[in-house]
Amino acid sequence: MAEDQAAAGGSAASAADGPASESSSHRDVTILFVGDVVGGIGRRTLLECLTVLRERHAPTFVVVNGENAAGGLGITPKIAEEMFANGVDAITLGNHTYHRREIYPYLDSEKPIVRPANFLRNQPGRGVCVVEHGGVHLGVVNLSGNLYVRAGRSAFTEIEVALGELKDVDHILVDVHAEATSEKVAMGWHLDGRVTAVVGTHTHVPTADGRVLPGGTAYITDVGMTGPRGGVIGVKREQAIESLLTQMPVRFETSEDDPWLMGVLIKCSQPMRADSIEQVLMPRPAQDPRGR
Ligand SMILES: [Fe+2]
Ligand SMILES: [Fe+2]
Repeated sequence: MAEDQAAAGGSAASAADGPASESSSHRDVTILFVGDVVGGIGRRTLLECLTVLRERHAPTFVVVNGENAAGGLGITPKIAEEMFANGVDAITLGNHTYHRREIYPYLDSEKPIVRPANFLRNQPGRGVCVVEHGGVHLGVVNLSGNLYVRAGRSAFTEIEVALGELKDVDHILVDVHAEATSEKVAMGWHLDGRVTAVVGTHTHVPTADGRVLPGGTAYITDVGMTGPRGGVIGVKREQAIESLLTQMPVRFETSEDDPWLMGVLIKCSQPMRADSIEQVLMPRPAQDPRGR
């Protein structure tokens, strides 16, 4: 299921420029990025899969999009704390950031949880954080698209401000939370060679375009979700179909059918560059009928 997408682009890292490339003793780094965790079923799937993925890949950093973690919409401090206690280094969010009010003060704390940097400045939280392991510093940036989702400012101008706050880090991972594939593809090209990875979220459906771009930036349009494949992007399929059939209001509940973890594994051997990006598409261990 997982495919190593290290292409010729990996060798383009020799064209590295900028201050981070001056370090010749950089250690190998693996970043596991996990797509939108949907509800309790998604949280349980995350934790169970993480145990396996840690043994298999020993990721240096684990970054998780948690915008749907609380009952399918938003996140609470308790859920964020549970993720951090289980080895998640940083949490990114998206258009559902503010669904749960109790998260507002938590977003303004020093915890490594970020909402889109191009939201309005006076909205709670911030869009950039830095996490560290063994002397390696990873900057994490969250952006929102501007098409079909609500964000007060342009992702393409605010990313420059965000990168300006991350002068002294070894790697930067940018989660572009957006509906339109065009915006995400454009952001990948815009940041190629300037960050380690640009990973897309929000659609809950993984795309097949993961690769290392010529400048050395790992890119994928959407990593998918960590939640029920048996639903419709997280919702019970019967309810989603009824809504579409009847065009009437329908109460949506989170499906629990066929949960999978979806994400990417990014491997790096030099600062601010990726060697490979590999999709991780993994059924919840206890739910896998093949017993893998
Ligand atoms: Fe989502
Ligand atoms: Fe979203």
